[in-house]
Amino acid sequence: MERLAGRLGVAVIGAGKIGRHRARLSAAHAGVDHLAIADVNASAAETLAAEVGADTWTTKVDEVVASSDVDVIIVSTPERAHTEPLLAALATGKPTLVEKPLTLTLEDADMVLAEAAERGVDLRVGYSMRYAQRYAVARDQIVNHRSIGDVIGGTARCYDTLAIGEAILARSPTATPVKDILTYFVDLIGWCCPDARPVEAVARSGGSILRSKGHDVDDVTFALVAYDDGTVFNLATSYSLPSGYPISGMAARFEVLGTSGVLLIDEDHGDQVLYSDAGYSNAYVDQQWNLAYLGSRTSGEWAGGTMFGRVADETRAWLDHHTMGGPLHITTAAEARTTLAVTLAIDEAAATGRPVEICAGRSQHGERSTPDD
Ligand SMILES: NC(=O)c1ccc[n+]([C@@H]2O[C@H](COP(=O)([O-])OP(=O)(O)OC[C@H]3O[C@@H](n4cnc5c(N)ncnc54)[C@H](O)[C@@H]3O)[C@@H](O)[C@H]2O)c1
Repeated sequence: MERLAGRLGVAVIGAGKIGRHRARLSAAHAGVDHLAIADVNASAAETLAAEVGADTWTTKVDEVVASSDVDVIIVSTPERAHTEPLLAALATGKPTLVEKPLTLTLEDADMVLAEAAERGVDLRVGYSMRYAQRYAVARDQIVNHRSIGDVIGGTARCYDTLAIGEAILARSPTATPVKDILTYFVDLIGWCCPDARPVEAVARSGGSILRSKGHDVDDVTFALVAYDDGTVFNLATSYSLPSGYPISGMAARFEVLGTSGVLLIDEDHGDQVLYSDAGYSNAYVDQQWNLAYLGSRTSGEWAGGTMFGRVADETRAWLDHHTMGGPLHITTAAEARTTLAVTLAIDEAAATGRPVEICAGRSQHGERSTPDD
């Protein structure tokens, strides 16, 4: 592609499952006129670059992010490998989008936040559920329309199958269900209750399925998180639904109780059923099913060359924002840091059996993704 003034050059770091979505969406975006792919695995980078018609591919992350053809950077590496490419991206001062969770430790998160602040980078974290219609509308009703009054508390529950859980743990062994999937709901609660600061977590966890397969992770975790305004949320998660259960992402419930209303979201996906004698395959892992709950893939789906769903809408919103100044409510780095602190506190409370104070540090009060609300 020839570079045009006012157009955008994008680098996608990490040519895996989500990086592939981001790269395909970038290649199709009208404002993007340069696309570079980087991956530590040369063949992954080269294959994706060929598939999407990228201008260049490389294994050298430092070089590609510094290139004058690149204006914005997407970091789609595994959870355990966000920090290093992220620091390289931030050093360039270019707007950056990183996959959730921000990092897996508060030390790394603080290093990343300090670098972003020093370089003045608009760093966003891809908690894509904010771009699912059902959650965005719920949040709008809660915060902007005050439809349920003051939030008192609620519950969030999300399950993955064992097959998906093992795929996550294979790429990032410390990405527990709390840090990797429940984190979406901790982010949503922070977004829906922007003035409530998380202060304490209590939790219990157990089970032996994942441990019997060599993972140092419990199967189920049940937690309560208290906020400084008296709000209480009940949170539950697991990677241990049977592998053949017909979801290719999360099965979830989200419920918020207020002083004058309630919001109940059922995302168990039983509303869209496919039964196929020929077999169906579109899972996060390589599986063939007869029965499938379509629409359960967390990132969204491609159909007829178009991507539908949350990652598509999130990526387009981010690219629109950087080409045309469109609205953006992707999680800020400060919000993601608070979410990480909550999930780490839940895992620690479950491991120790004791209440854990939450070190939210820089909270979402400082830097909000939706300042106009
Ligand atoms: N928003 C969503 O809906 C959603 C859904 C699933 C996963 N995710 C997140 O996306 C991220 C990536 O998940 P995935 O399923 O695409 O993983 P993946 O394993 O499929 O792909 C990761 C790629 O990154 C490459 N890589 C590893 N370390 C690297 C480094 N230091 N520099 C450059 N490349 C590197 C790997 O070689 C691999 O090709 C995770 O943080 C995950 O939590 C988001």
